Amino acid sequence: MKAALKVVLSVIGVLGLAVGGFYVWANMRVNGLRSRTIETHTVDFPIPFPLSEAEMAALSSPDSADAVALGGAIERGQHLVGSRYLCGECHGTSYGGGIMIDDPMLARIRGPNLTTGRGSVTLAYGPADWDRAVRHGVAPSGLPTIMPAEDFQLMSDQELADVVSYIRSMPPVDNEVVTVDMGPLGIVLVALGQLRFAADIIPTHTAAHASVPPATEVTAEFGQHLAGVCTGCHRADLSGGPIPSGEPSWPPARNLTPHADGLAAWTYDDFTRALREGKRPDGTDLQLPMSMIVNYTKNMTEAEVQALWAYLRSLPAVATGG
Ligand code: HEC
Ligand code: HEC
Repeated sequence: MKAALKVVLSVIGVLGLAVGGFYVWANMRVNGLRSRTIETHTVDFPIPFPLSEAEMAALSSPDSADAVALGGAIERGQHLVGSRYLCGECHGTSYGGGIMIDDPMLARIRGPNLTTGRGSVTLAYGPADWDRAVRHGVAPSGLPTIMPAEDFQLMSDQELADVVSYIRSMPPVDNEVVTVDMGPLGIVLVALGQLRFAADIIPTHTAAHASVPPATEVTAEFGQHLAGVCTGCHRADLSGGPIPSGEPSWPPARNLTPHADGLAAWTYDDFTRALREGKRPDGTDLQLPMSMIVNYTKNMTEAEVQALWAYLRSLPAVATGG
């Protein structure tokens, strides 16, 4: 009896040591990954973009050029963050800080204060810093951030300048934010590579970015540009499947190609209803995280939804990603 108990206790002891040892390793691995310096290019672009020659020619007074350029940038920026770039989802609608994940097991992750108030992380930012943070997931220090910047890598310089102009137009908020507090499950998932840093997902940190987006027209080219924010979950070929680096509770993303498992049987009206009302053709509700994305896609213009649809219809039919 005593001998059997001894065996059981020592097995538990060995298991405990193994688990403890694994956890110490996982913590060291995560600290190592977070303290790497990531090399990126240094870009420059005007914030806001100046008016084009045609826009200049249409002005009644050339003195108003700067004010008109800023006004246009703020207006475009507001539409961009409201319809697809969703910065306010994690940085708060005031941009003074918000919540990305609040799960004690996984992590508590907060978006920092982007306004000019106390606790701002962007006060000293120039264009190159905005590029690094937003399109590469790298802080000015060179350290990788926990922000899904892979969704923004196709943003053009002008769109980024528009978004920055809009955020800079927000009233200052005083708010110091502690951004990252990893939970045990989050540490294990990051250590095992199940949750990856944006800077590791983005294939290159040195390729030039487009200066301006494709023209706002119903073309597959413009649709492909818009779909840049869908690929993080629906994958590069939009064939769907389990979401890479998604929260463990999320369902797989659906296949958006014209495949039988995807949107082959969908009409344009079905697509519009999904993006505007969050409903499938059978009337049931789309689940998180797509229901959250719908809060943005519902604000897309008609031309934007049509361009996205034109692009999705132009794709090869691909079986759902594994
Ligand atoms: C899904 C949530 C999420 C979205 C969407 C998001 N961010 Fe962030 N962002 C974060 C988090 C979390 C951090 C802090 C990361 C860290 O400290 O590792 C962050 C950090 C930043 C930083 C500071 C980087 C630094 O450390 O200096 C900037 C600038 C920024 N985000 C801008 C933006 C802009 C602009 C957008 C929209 C285009 C955006 N973010 C969209 C979550 C998000
Ligand atoms: C954060 C991850 C995420 C992003 C970003 C995202 N989706 Fe989704 N999407 C999902 C998930 C997950 C589902 C499945 C939801 C469900 O099963 O209820 C889904 C479902 C859909 C559906 C329903 C398809 C069906 O067969 O029911 C459509 C349409 C769709 N997404 C389009 C888009 C478009 C267009 C974009 C980009 C503008 C986009 N999604 C961006 C995660 C995402």
